[in-house]
Amino acid sequence: MNSRAKIEASIIMKPIYMAGPWITEHEIGVVEDAMRNGWYEHAYDYCEKFQKEFASYHNRKYGIMTPNCTTAIHLLLSALGVGDGDEVILPECTWIATGAGITYQRATPVFCDIEPVNWCLDPQSVDKQITPRTKAIIAVDLFGNMPLMDELAEIAKRNNIVLIEDAAEAVGSTYKGVRAGKFGIGSVFSFHRTKTITTGEGGMLLLDDDELYERCMFLRDHGRKSDGPMYYNYEVTYKYMPFNLQAALGYAQFQRIDELVGRKREQLLMYRERLNEIDDIELNPEPPAGVNGAWITGLVFGKSHNMTKLKAMEEMSGLGVPCRPFFYPLSSLPAYPGCREKYEPLNPAAYDISMRGINLPGAANVTVEQIDKVCDGIKTILGYKTR
Ligand SMILES: Cc1ncc(COP(=O)(O)O)c(C=O)c1O
Repeated sequence: MNSRAKIEASIIMKPIYMAGPWITEHEIGVVEDAMRNGWYEHAYDYCEKFQKEFASYHNRKYGIMTPNCTTAIHLLLSALGVGDGDEVILPECTWIATGAGITYQRATPVFCDIEPVNWCLDPQSVDKQITPRTKAIIAVDLFGNMPLMDELAEIAKRNNIVLIEDAAEAVGSTYKGVRAGKFGIGSVFSFHRTKTITTGEGGMLLLDDDELYERCMFLRDHGRKSDGPMYYNYEVTYKYMPFNLQAALGYAQFQRIDELVGRKREQLLMYRERLNEIDDIELNPEPPAGVNGAWITGLVFGKSHNMTKLKAMEEMSGLGVPCRPFFYPLSSLPAYPGCREKYEPLNPAAYDISMRGINLPGAANVTVEQIDKVCDGIKTILGYKTR
């Protein structure tokens, strides 16, 4: 083997990661600054900067950083007064975190179907499942795709309930020229170690309403008032405070948002280009008059391929390529006992698409050669010729 071939082989041999961040000297420098100087009167400086600038970037009045996005959703539901006997609508196919806060509040999750075109909440399904007990709709920007936000907002308005946007996966996406994170009464983001902008663990709640902001701030820190007496708690609430080092990392990553989202979009475009010749598969679509932030590339096999996600993952793994399953319908999971019987007939698209979908590797360090290898793998398992 000559040296060039050796280098190429070593690149190909490197593991392909599903998810992972892009950390540079910039982030290391900012975190070092927080480590050296972010104490005493500076203990929240980066939290404040990150909250303010992240909110303003998304054209929101307030940003509230939380330990993760799961707690951001819970904080908002709690502040909205969602509780016993209430119902909250969410899509079948999402990470369980979207709905966990509903259960923490002892309310009932109501699972709605997804749209075949964007794999997000289907407004018609939502319309059918609204009852007098429905308190909120949580729309999820799955993988960076966008739901039909206009229609969901109209349904929420008509029924006098609130719309919440779970934008955990949608940094960098836009819909009709509006950034993901600007829809509904509040939106949430995740900075989990797998996300486009990461703080390892971390989340952000964005709001516009003054009263709701005050209530969330109160609930976030043990039920005390910012202008109240010291050590004086009015209610037993939560401790969902952020940490300055975590915020420093998030702030530094946020300063590179175009570069980070740019790389994700490049990956989606490379997958699209290389898989273009395959009939009857779908990858993340671009939203109406918008851009897909492409946190991860989803691939749904058309029925003609007779390919399930589990079979595809097994065969791809045999070729040395990791893939992940499209989210299972939440109502099919043991976490929600007895729900499958009710929801499978109501949500046929979710049950069907989930069976046929996988996620392709989307770590920030995935190389062009690795994307070639992933695409060759997909072609091989579908019986197409590779390069
Ligand atoms: C759609 C969605 N909602 C919520 C979350 C929860 O985020 P976190 O892990 O930061 O709590 C995630 C993260 O994986 C997600 O993908």
